[in-house]
Amino acid sequence: MVKRDTDADARPWQQLAQTVLDRCDLLAACTDEPGRITRVFCSPAMTRAHAAAQPWLEQAGAAPRVDAAGNLRGSYVAPGADATKTLVIGSHLDSVIDAGRYDGALGVMIGLAVVEALQQRKTALPWAVEVIGFSDEEGVRFGTPFLGSHAAAGTFEESLLLRRDARGITVADALREFGCDPAAIPQCAPAPGCELVAYLEAHIEQGPALELAGRPLATVDAIAGQSRLAFTWRGEGGHAGTVPMRGRRDPLIAASRWALEVRRVGLEIAGLTATVGRATVDPNVPNCIARRVEMSLDVRHADDMVRSAATNQLVEIAEAMAREEGVAIAVEHHHDHAAIAMDAPWNARLTAACEGLGAPGAALTSGAGHDAGVMARVTPTAMLLIRSPGGVSHHPDEAVTLTDVAAAIAALTTAIEDFAAAS
Ligand code: GLV
Ligand code: MN
Ligand code: MN
Repeated sequence: MVKRDTDADARPWQQLAQTVLDRCDLLAACTDEPGRITRVFCSPAMTRAHAAAQPWLEQAGAAPRVDAAGNLRGSYVAPGADATKTLVIGSHLDSVIDAGRYDGALGVMIGLAVVEALQQRKTALPWAVEVIGFSDEEGVRFGTPFLGSHAAAGTFEESLLLRRDARGITVADALREFGCDPAAIPQCAPAPGCELVAYLEAHIEQGPALELAGRPLATVDAIAGQSRLAFTWRGEGGHAGTVPMRGRRDPLIAASRWALEVRRVGLEIAGLTATVGRATVDPNVPNCIARRVEMSLDVRHADDMVRSAATNQLVEIAEAMAREEGVAIAVEHHHDHAAIAMDAPWNARLTAACEGLGAPGAALTSGAGHDAGVMARVTPTAMLLIRSPGGVSHHPDEAVTLTDVAAAIAALTTAIEDFAAAS
């Protein structure tokens, strides 16, 4: 809903929104797996997505470049703007496996539409506005998320370059193969003498709250903290028909019993999500007792103490069940980040912009992780969530409506104009 005085006032936002949706469709065709959307860090599909988006950045006067972390960036410097100061609008261009077309890509395309709107409206901007399509937010390829935004924020830990994907390729080699120089990653952060003014991110809600509330948009008060772990059980494989049931040391039984505990703990603790999203079984053959099982664990909560207590509890349960089943267990912590609040003045600006459009916003706590959670550690950061019809995400059925996307473009543009006028 973009409620303006006349239809003519709403039309430019809707035209921009239509372009955003068309561009998301074109990006969806850039996939590593024919027939479904999968676009991971530094993959051939990401190269194609960059090739598709670069002309759009050029047309918007935002000279495109790919930085050393594989982020696609384009900076628009309005006449008279101070190019040492930058307001960034972004999201990520990578996806999960068999993804929808809007998680990430929509926010990048909305950032571009906002730059186009600011130019159409001849807004006087005292700083540069940069659009970033981050290279990795989902962490699918290397098991650890936010590689792109950590580089842009200047919080990229060098040890990450040594992480390996399922084929044994390191992050450093993946970047080189993609045409990037990993040694130059520190240069992804603002150069000395340059500063970030703010980071703004539009994103689909990825849940049902806005649809249930009948609202198109929401700001985010905080992003929940997140832990990701990997569990490996090792037991004794054998013949399914000859090894007696009693005395088996079956790692799949230990892992399965634990997976049920993950759900129990997730249900018992208010506000907690606890998920086993990945499982592999070796040798994964119907007539063989498993030898080795791996499972992932993802735990999230807005209160870091609750998250860490629940994570520890689940590790202890896994260890106890492994002992009971006579199998060995190894637990690796892959990623932890604390919950983080978004910037209150920006939330006030975005809320006022939504109200001005007749699209009253709500404030939600985001259970999903976002690049905004990384950027918030180095610059004032805010998010605008867009209603997800059906509430689905990380799924091909992700959806948005044209009017909601138009409202998001209008709200972000208006909030930036208010900030520029006061700067
Ligand atoms: C990313 O979408 C996440 O929340 O894991
Ligand atoms: Mn996602
Ligand atoms: Mn996302």
